[in-house]
Amino acid sequence: MHPRTTAARRRAGAPFLCALAVALAGCSPERYPQTALLPLSDFARIGDHVQDQTFYWALGVFVLVEGALLYSIFRFRGRPEDPEPSQIHGNTTIEIIWTLIPALILAAIAVPTVKGIFETNAIPKGAMVIEVIGHQWWWEFRYPEANITTANEMFIPAGRTVELKINSGDVVHSFWPPRFAGKRDVFPGRETRLWWKADSTGLYPGQCAEYCGIQHARMAFHVRSVTPQDFEAWIGHMKAKGPPKPPAAAAPAAGGSLRTASAGAKVQGARDSAAAGAPAQGAEYAAGEKLFMTKGCMGCHSLQAVGAPKGLIGPNLANVGSRSHIAAGWLPNTDENLERWIREPQSVKKGVLMPNLGVTVEEARALRAYLRAHQ
Ligand code: CUA
Repeated sequence: MHPRTTAARRRAGAPFLCALAVALAGCSPERYPQTALLPLSDFARIGDHVQDQTFYWALGVFVLVEGALLYSIFRFRGRPEDPEPSQIHGNTTIEIIWTLIPALILAAIAVPTVKGIFETNAIPKGAMVIEVIGHQWWWEFRYPEANITTANEMFIPAGRTVELKINSGDVVHSFWPPRFAGKRDVFPGRETRLWWKADSTGLYPGQCAEYCGIQHARMAFHVRSVTPQDFEAWIGHMKAKGPPKPPAAAAPAAGGSLRTASAGAKVQGARDSAAAGAPAQGAEYAAGEKLFMTKGCMGCHSLQAVGAPKGLIGPNLANVGSRSHIAAGWLPNTDENLERWIREPQSVKKGVLMPNLGVTVEEARALRAYLRAHQ
């Protein structure tokens, strides 16, 4: 081989290898964890199995059809002196064959598909119920057995089946935790169900998968799968925040017939948080607590985990300080982001129900300190 030709080939191959590397990097579950191709539960594996089978049938069809095509193109290519080829239009035998073969392939794919539909619709007995309520644009998670509520970060015990009872507080959404299960439509006034048993621990993203308004793309959430021991500890931790106190001083009304967090909810005091293991509170915390009650925050948000009122306008903030993300699962929960989110929600997530309340930089810092203490 001529050395220059080899070098030229290498040069030509380099961009191809780079493109391949970039394309494969796109498959990395570490950077793009929202994939349905790496199932982490029994439910997800049912769908993955159907997908695999369909893929292998499609691959076989592709290789056979393209192979026959390429073979024919080269083997039977025409030359100028060739006579007109024989015409096969209306050949009954061939038409029966090319109708039957696809029908048989579709039947072969239909068997695992229908089986999968039945398997995923049969909810296992004895599952732990979690109520999921979709809101524009965040997710509410209620644990009726433990009587606790959280938002946007769903805790589940690995190795135990969870059964989700899904509803919407407003419009149609779709609940999609890709590593654990398929999509489920979320309707107002009609319950849908979903279930799975996680076989791994970790933090995995999920997403609303039905267009539901301008911030649909930012209606994300996370599933935090933990060991059964850690799950029990988390339930205990949430319960230790205490049952709802009797209604105290009237909270600022949010108007009309809207049911708000202030109905029956009492914001947790510094003493309660300290008891729940929050860090020692300083002046910033005290200022934040005061602001939380006077700036209108508690018109929409509840800070109580146990017996939280239903029909909240805004997400429950009982453990907001320890959540991985804020603003419904997409903005990392850093101090900087939390302060900005409090100060100017309409520029962070335009159209969200939380209005810009004219919070100053200092006030945002105090509110952040107060909320961060709610682990
Ligand atoms: Cu909710 Cu899209």
